[in-house]
Amino acid sequence: MLKLRQSPVLASKQLKGALDKHGYQVTTYARPHDLLITRGKGSKLYDDLHNKSYVDFTAGIAVTSLGHSNEEVSRILCEQSKKLIHSSNLYYNAECLDLSKKIVEKTKSLGGQYDCSKVFLCSTGTEANEAALKFAKKHGSLLGPKKHGIIAFKNSFHGRTMGALSVTSNPKYRTPFGDLVPGTSFLNIHDELSVFSDFIKNKKDEVAGLIVEPVQGEGGVFPIPVEKLVGLKQICSENDVVVIHDEIQCGMGRTGKLWAHAHLPKEAHPDIFTSAKALGNGFPIAATMVNEKINSALQVGDHGTTYGGNPLGGAVASYVMDVIGNEDFLEGVVRKGEIFQGRLMKLCESYPEQIKDLRGQGLMIGLEFTEAPKELISKCRDLGLLVITAGKSTVRFVPPLTISESDINEGLSIFEKAVNEVYA
Ligand SMILES: Cc1ncc(COP(=O)(O)O)c(C=O)c1O
Repeated sequence: MLKLRQSPVLASKQLKGALDKHGYQVTTYARPHDLLITRGKGSKLYDDLHNKSYVDFTAGIAVTSLGHSNEEVSRILCEQSKKLIHSSNLYYNAECLDLSKKIVEKTKSLGGQYDCSKVFLCSTGTEANEAALKFAKKHGSLLGPKKHGIIAFKNSFHGRTMGALSVTSNPKYRTPFGDLVPGTSFLNIHDELSVFSDFIKNKKDEVAGLIVEPVQGEGGVFPIPVEKLVGLKQICSENDVVVIHDEIQCGMGRTGKLWAHAHLPKEAHPDIFTSAKALGNGFPIAATMVNEKINSALQVGDHGTTYGGNPLGGAVASYVMDVIGNEDFLEGVVRKGEIFQGRLMKLCESYPEQIKDLRGQGLMIGLEFTEAPKELISKCRDLGLLVITAGKSTVRFVPPLTISESDINEGLSIFEKAVNEVYA
């Protein structure tokens, strides 16, 4: 048995062999072989095996928004685990009743879904989207026998299970897996609204829902223009098509509002929206929020999950909601985003040949290069900074929302140095 807590360096050395050839893990990830994360604190990650520390601009892919090893999160997990971890969805538990109430109330008071009504709790982003798709289809089934199709967008990412994969456009993720859920159509978000309008009107009797990320994450960090989301909602409402916003990556304060759709006028708010990632700061919990129109279409037995809505997740997410669902905290995210954008803009000016675009909102930022920045990512790692890509050639910055200004500046200095070394 490895005693990581007592002697991290020694224990990590025993793991060295496991770093080669994926150890005993299946080969579905391309991971660097010179990196083994042993612990984290705030916006820093540590590899005790190689005696290295990193500024973390990835936050576990937009998950640990309150920082690694957040003390209050750890305390709550510890206390709650001594009280009750799991009791199933056969019975109510106080923690998830409290969390659901908090989500609905904060959503309404902080400019999110104005008619937010009910919450379905589960464990992962993919599952939250599966629930959203099923709820939309159930609503459609009450309006017509064929109304179960879903519209999604090119460049989207909604998850890896067969249902969520059906609405994820990337052929690399889809092709090897044969037939997916039928009835999905992919449109191009950059098309004119008239194209959507024609398509949706024509297919009115066959389309139950439309799913969109207000800021496309994995696809390359593309904020969808407000007028597009406003127009889409209007067209969908006129044709009884349910609008789902996937806020798994861009929600929970990441864009500087509690939800990305809170940047939209009320009439463009979704009927359903989903959250995961930052909701549990790393503890697996996810949620699907619906308005009363959707809730009234649901019946006992329509959906379920064993782990979803457990008190451990409920307790921690309740705390995360309290911290992120606070106007001062959200203003801080906007301010930090501006520091990022300001420094990255200067880099764009210095490297007009290599850097194509700077996009983003709050602390969800993408810097698009003209070519895949593979060498840059590994140079950053060598120098002590973790960043990830999005799409084909975009570097994605999604640090913890609690990151300090000094960690932002330290990380950006490393990034600038790496860019200079790779491209100068
Ligand atoms: C927008 C979006 N939707 C869904 C998912 C899937 O979430 P999970 O990996 O928790 O299943 C992700 C994960 O990256 C995502 O970014």
